[in-house]
Amino acid sequence: MSSAGKRATLQKRPDEVATMFDEVAPRYDVMNDLLSLGQTRRWRKIVLDAVDAAPGQRVLDLAAGTGTSSEPYADAGVDVVACDFSLGMLRVGKRRRPDIDFIAGDATNLPFADNSFDAVTISFGLRNVNDPKKALSEMLRVAKPGGRIVIAEFSTPTNPLWRTMYIEYLMRALPEVARRASSNPDAYVYLAESIRAWPDQDNLAAWLADAGWGDVTYRNLSGGIVAVHRAHKPAAHDPSHAPGGMLPAKLRRARRTAGY
Ligand SMILES: C[S@@+](CC[C@H](N)C(=O)[O-])C[C@H]1O[C@@H](n2cnc3c(N)ncnc32)[C@H](O)[C@@H]1O
Repeated sequence: MSSAGKRATLQKRPDEVATMFDEVAPRYDVMNDLLSLGQTRRWRKIVLDAVDAAPGQRVLDLAAGTGTSSEPYADAGVDVVACDFSLGMLRVGKRRRPDIDFIAGDATNLPFADNSFDAVTISFGLRNVNDPKKALSEMLRVAKPGGRIVIAEFSTPTNPLWRTMYIEYLMRALPEVARRASSNPDAYVYLAESIRAWPDQDNLAAWLADAGWGDVTYRNLSGGIVAVHRAHKPAAHDPSHAPGGMLPAKLRRARRTAGY
C-alpha cells in the first residue's frame, strides 16, 4: 500500500497503532535517538526528576513501549510497571530488561485497581492513544489520592521562527531520514502528522484539569518541541467530578513556570 493510502486509513485505530509499533519495535530506540538528534536522553532525565519517585514507590509508566522510559525508575529502585498494548514493543523490552514488570494493557481501559500507584507517567504515548481524554481519566482512577501525573509529549514551539523551522524539519527532513533508516517509513510520516495535530501546551493543560487533575503545571523543553505537564490527583478525589472548561485561575497556574 502506498504511504498516502496507509496514512489515510491510520486514524489512530487501536489495532493499526499497535501493529505500527509492533513493526517499528526492533529499531524503535535507535530511530528515536537519530530523529531527536540525541535530545531524548535529556528529556527523559527531566521527566524522571518531575516524577520524583522514591525507592519502593509504585509508578505506572503507561505506553511504555520497549521500556526505555521505564528503565531509569527500575535503576533507582522504584517499583515500575511498564504497560503498553503493542506486544511487539513489550517483547523487545522484556528481552532487554527481564527485571521490569511489563504488562499488556490499553490506556483507555487500564488493567489496574483504583488508587494503586504513587505516580503515573506517559512519555510520547498520549498522542498515539485513540481517546486521550479517556486515558487521562483512567490514569486519575489508578493514581492514589495526592498522587502525581507527568506527561512528556511533543508540543508547540513558542518562538514563531523556531516553530517554522521545526515544522519544516517534521514535514520534510524527518520522513526523508526515516525513509532511509526505518523498516516502516510510513510510521514516521504518521509521527510528523500526529505531532502537528496535537493540542498545544495550554490545551493539554485544560484536558488535564477537565479530567479532574489538580495543580496543573507545565515546562517547555527545547523551546516547546516537547512539553512536560505535571499535576496531582486531589487528596479527596470526587469520582462524580463533572468535566467542564478550565477556569482562568487554573489556566494561569498551568502557565506559571513549573518548578522541575
Ligand atoms: C512513541 S511510543 C513511546 C514509548 C515509550 N514511552 C518511550 O518513551 O520510548 C508510544 C507507545 O504508545 C503505545 N500506545 C498507543 N496507544 C496505546 C493504548 N491505547 N494503550 C496502550 N499503549 C498504547 C504504543 O504501542 C507505543 O508503544
